[in-house]
Amino acid sequence: MRRHWQKKPLLVRQAIPGFKPVLSAAQLFALASRDEVESRLITRSPARRGQAAWRLQRGPFARRALPPLAQPGWTLLVQGVDLHSEAAHELMQRFRFIPDARLDDLMISYASEGGGVGPHFDSYDVFLLQASGSRRWQISAQTDLSLQADAPLKILRRFAPQQEFVLHAGDMLYLPPGYAHDGVAQPGTGADGRPQACMTYSIGFRAPAQHELAAALLTRLAEMAQEEDGDAAPKLYRDPSQPASLNPAQVPPALLRFAEQALARALREPQALASALGEYLSEPKPNVWFESSDQAAEGLQKGQGVRLHQRSRMLYDAKRVFINGEAFVALGADARLMRQLADERHLPAATLARLSPSARQLLGNWFEDGWLVADLAG
Ligand code: SIN
Ligand code: CO
Repeated sequence: MRRHWQKKPLLVRQAIPGFKPVLSAAQLFALASRDEVESRLITRSPARRGQAAWRLQRGPFARRALPPLAQPGWTLLVQGVDLHSEAAHELMQRFRFIPDARLDDLMISYASEGGGVGPHFDSYDVFLLQASGSRRWQISAQTDLSLQADAPLKILRRFAPQQEFVLHAGDMLYLPPGYAHDGVAQPGTGADGRPQACMTYSIGFRAPAQHELAAALLTRLAEMAQEEDGDAAPKLYRDPSQPASLNPAQVPPALLRFAEQALARALREPQALASALGEYLSEPKPNVWFESSDQAAEGLQKGQGVRLHQRSRMLYDAKRVFINGEAFVALGADARLMRQLADERHLPAATLARLSPSARQLLGNWFEDGWLVADLAG
């Protein structure tokens, strides 16, 4: 973290020795055929006048809509695989040396020989883990990040590679934001001599943009202030001392002061800001859903432990716990146990028994909502 995170690339040979893909190509193609899964197909046609022509199509893709595997120069990208595959979710857990609030998702690419997404840069940090087959990465610290104007995806206009590595299964490359790179699938054979598909896993991060945070937090704070007012009539701007106006189009200075007060009021309560931030950061993505359990909270009573559902996002700060966009105040021993649940993503049965009745009730509700599931391992 000290030397590389957000600073410079790092190649880790055999980051995960003996790594085996968590999904077969057939399972990946099946995911790409689902409506709720974001997928893209990128095809490169042979270069004409020195420049390759790129084509981008968006999923879902029926299996027969994908090009033949033997056709070179295409790649399928499937986003958010960790939301759908438990094994992919488990793999993501290895990257929790970075705070959950920064972790985004696991994208898997499948590429035929020569396939790739072209030279580009990403705005976020990424760990590129080779899952099977091999891929040649060329990278560059270039500062010219201008893009081709007419391409359907972000392609660098002038890519000047400075380093090159061929990654095999288990190797991993970390790139900080804004680092130019181009990964091209290489022909490869496995230990058994059979051809191996090039699959690359991108462990991606999120970083809120300041303007997005401002928009999201101010909206929440304004709603909180409104809730605080309850049924009281909204506070409207009043101007009993407004003289007859000679400049009717001018914004009254008193109205600017009223607006300033409105913002100051929303920001007055630092606890409200912390609460809004935790809610925002733990909000699941729009395509995420949970299946509520009709088993009621019984799972909590059978001496079983609980685990967070793989799609649940749970965070905490000094005063509250946040789960899937909601904030709860937790105190004393309950707070300690809730934080344990957030950090370890499970609570064993013996620990559950130490929760207060109200905290158990809360966990019961989460269980019914499908945010928590019974942990058969106890
Ligand atoms: C890929 O897996 O082909 C694309 C990953 C990336 O360059 O960010
Ligand atoms: Co990239």
